[in-house]
This record gives sequence, C-alpha cells and structure tokens, in this order.
Amino acid sequence: MQFGSIVTLLAVFLILAQTFEYDTEYDIGELITCEEDCKCDHTEPSTITCDKVKFEEEDLTTANLKLMDKSAIYKVVKLTNNRIKMLNKKQIVPQLAKNVEELDFSDNLIRAIDDKAFDDFAKLKVLKLSDNHLDFEDMENVFTSKLGKSLDRLYLDHNKQLNDVPKGFFDGLTNLKTLVLDGNVNLELTDKTFGKGMKNLEELSLDDCNISDLPLGIFDGLPKLQRLSLRGNPFTKIPDAINKIKNLKILDLSETSITEMTENSLSNDHSIQHLIMQNLEYLTMIDNCAFCGLQELKVIDFSDCKHLFSINDNAFGSKSKQTPPKLEEVHFDNCNLSTLHEDLANWEDLKKLSIGGNPLNCDCNLKWLLDNPHLQTFNGVTPTCAQPESLKDMPLNKVNDKVCPQAKINTGIFSEPKKRKCLSFVALVLAITFVVLVLVAIFGFIQYTRRRGRLTNVFYRPELPQMSYNKLPTNPDLMSKSYTYSIQQEKA
Ligand SMILES: *[C@@H]1O[C@H](CO)[C@@H](O)[C@H](O)[C@H]1NC(C)=O
Ligand SMILES: *[C@@H]1O[C@H](CO)[C@@H](O)[C@H](O)[C@H]1NC(C)=O
Repeated sequence: MQFGSIVTLLAVFLILAQTFEYDTEYDIGELITCEEDCKCDHTEPSTITCDKVKFEEEDLTTANLKLMDKSAIYKVVKLTNNRIKMLNKKQIVPQLAKNVEELDFSDNLIRAIDDKAFDDFAKLKVLKLSDNHLDFEDMENVFTSKLGKSLDRLYLDHNKQLNDVPKGFFDGLTNLKTLVLDGNVNLELTDKTFGKGMKNLEELSLDDCNISDLPLGIFDGLPKLQRLSLRGNPFTKIPDAINKIKNLKILDLSETSITEMTENSLSNDHSIQHLIMQNLEYLTMIDNCAFCGLQELKVIDFSDCKHLFSINDNAFGSKSKQTPPKLEEVHFDNCNLSTLHEDLANWEDLKKLSIGGNPLNCDCNLKWLLDNPHLQTFNGVTPTCAQPESLKDMPLNKVNDKVCPQAKINTGIFSEPKKRKCLSFVALVLAITFVVLVLVAIFGFIQYTRRRGRLTNVFYRPELPQMSYNKLPTNPDLMSKSYTYSIQQEKA
C-alpha cells in the first residue's frame, strides 16, 4: 500500500516536472557556437548553418539562438532539419535579425508563427518554410506589408495542412517575385487565392498539389507571371486558365495525365519560349497545329513520353500560313517515335536535338537528319535505328551511307539514263490513264443519251470511309480511353 502511494507521488512529480519544462522551453533560448553546434562561413554571402543540431542528445527546438560573438553578422541563416515547433516574435536569431537576407527553416516541426514575426527583418529577401506543419490560419498576420517591402521569394512547399487560402492572405507581399507551394495536396485554389497584392509575382510553382483543374480566373491577379510550373498534377488536358496568362514564357506540365496535344490548346500563349512536358505517361499524339500559336518557342521538351508515337507534320504550323518558330532545343528522347519530319519546324537556329531511345525507322525520311551537320548534336542517349532490319540497333551517326542509298544515285554520273527510264514509264502510265478516261467519257455519254436527266448518276461515286494512317480509332476520346485502360492493365 505504502509503496504504491510512493510510486504514484513520484509519477505525479515527474509529470509536473515535464509540464514545467514544456512551458518554459521556448523562452530560454540556446547559446550556440560555431565550433560545436553550427557551421559558420564568412565568405560572401556570409552563412551560418545549424543543421540537425544536437546538444548532448537534445535536439534543437528553438530559433531563439544566441551567439558568443555579439558582433557577428550573417546574411544567410539556415536552421534546417531540427525540431523547432514555433517561431516567436523577437525570438528568431534576434542578434542577427537586422542584417539577414535569407532565412531557411526547412524540415522542422513548425506549426505556428507569431503575428508580425518577421517584421524586424528589414532586409529579408528569401524565406524558406518548406517541409513543416504549417496551416494558413495559424499565420494569418505573418506576411505583413512591412515584410512585403523586402521579401522576394517565399517557399511554403510540403506543408500538408495548408488548405484554403484566407482572403487577401498574400496581399501584403507586393514585391514577391517567386512563390513555391509544391507538394501541398490539400490546397484549395479559387479565383481569389492570388489577390491584387501580388502584382509583381513572376514565378509560381504548384508541383505535386493533386490539382486536376484550375479555376479560370486564378492567375488574373498576377499580371507579371512569366514562369509557371504545374508538374505532377493529374490534369488530363491543358487547363484553360493557362491561356489567360498574358506574358507566360516558361510552362512546365511534366508528369501530368495529358492524353493529347490538341489544336490550339495553347492558342493564346503567344509568348511561351520554353515548353516542358516530360514524362507524360498518357500522351500518344501531337495534333495538327498543336503549337501554331507559339511563335516565340525556342525550347521544347517531350522527353520520356513513352507512348508518344505521332507528331503531326503541321504541329508547328509549317504547312499552314504561319511562320514556324525557330527552335533552339528539341528533346524527344525516349518516346515511341519512328521518324522526325524535315518540314516539321524551322531548324535554322537549332543547337540541341535529342531523339535517342526512339524506335527510329532509318529510311529516306530520316536522311535529312544524317546529312545536315548542324543537326548531329545528340544529347544523352545515342539514337539508334529500329528499322530496317539490316540496320537494327545501329547508331544513327554510323549509318549515313546505308540509309536510303537510292538518294545517292541521283548525284552520280549514271543518273541521267535512270531518270529517262523513269520518265518513259511515267509517260506510259499517263497514256494508259488517258485512254481509260476517254473510254469512260464515251460510256458516260451513251448512258446520258439513253436516260436523259440522270447525268449525275453516270459519274456517281460511293462515299469512301475516312482513311487514316494509323490503325487506332479516329475518335480521340475512344483512343485515349483505350490507352489509359491498357496502361492501367500493365500496372496491375
Ligand atoms: C487527390 O485527389 C483525389 C480526388 O480528386 C483523391 O481521391 C486523392 O486521395 C488525392 N490524393 C492525395 C495524395 O491526396
Ligand atoms: C509504340 O508504337 C508501336 C506501334 O507503332 C506499338 O506497337 C507499341 O505498343 C508502342 N509502345 C508503347 C510503349 O506505347
């Protein structure tokens, strides 16, 4: 009995002690040294890095750090990979606050930040709060207009609790140029999310946010947006909201579920220079005029689209009236293409071309690529032939003599007689055609005179079913569904 009550008392005492310690944890702060706890680097930009700090088995749980050297100045402060839970005003490296330009709190356990916590950081340009437990509601008065005077880049990626953005949340950040919200799968985006305050934002990243469509007006408050990354979101088509961005220069839609690049899906994005669409698991075709609106296009990257087997000859508008863009970098490596058409684009300014890892058919259609010295810059995987059988697996730059040997005959001394033979054959065909036509006309005339008024029936032609080059159904909906189905089957 007595022993029991002693144990109980002891337990109560221990619990009380624990609570006391917990309550006072944030106020004490920690004295740190460059020798034992953190790394101090005085080369420009001067940086103090306190990564995964251990004080005799204890983790670092506070940003309230004090340095021995009271006059130390650091422009970059990194408190990454610790167990900091809160950021309190006046208790974030207070000695250094005045001069800090970059603060990095990535990989902590931060749940809450005091109102105006960063207002003392008059020179703060970059704030990284990646991989924490932040919630918009617990930091409503953190991104003030005072902080907004200096802040240039803000990272709030991989905070799984971030969901609906309170109205005007980012409005104080009038000088912000870059906002990173990657990996926040519960984000609820509306037309009001990026309000009027962010008029200078140039770069927005929303990778891996599980967004399947975007509200049409979501980018309306971002008149200077130039770079947009939407990698790894389950879009099945290009969201219309993208078409409303006035001066978009770089667009990344890699690793999305887009099935087809259709005509005019980027019709209003006239300024796009870089189009990055790597690893589109469900993409099979690039259609007629898919890039017709993109006159400024310089870099196009569809690498690792392993089911992409067809690019329409007029995808860039080289066959219709528009002048095609002058491409500088073209990446179609590891797709399922058998050829790359010479007339596809304007290759005048080409600097890099990668088409390795495709089942190339090394026939006359690919000859232009081998003959043109400017086009032999192959990056990454060396392209090889898959067809014809005689050239199978041979690198493209080693088969120049063997591809399309007939094409060479024309330049040789014996080309004339061959040509004549060819001509006489053509003449024969023409003569036969002429005779047949005359016979048909006579027959038609007889029919006409026999049954007057039925002229149209004489040359009646039954309507042919529509022909297409591939064996797949012409209805794109059907096609993408069957492809999706087969891919899922493979996975299962
Ligand atoms: C993504 O969203 C879908 C519904 O749109 C949901 O079923 C799925 O669980 C979400 N995935 C994650 C990782 O949150
Ligand atoms: C590549 O295309 C061929 C037909 O051209 C098809 O048989 C094959 O399944 C395709 N491969 C992939 C990975 O889509």
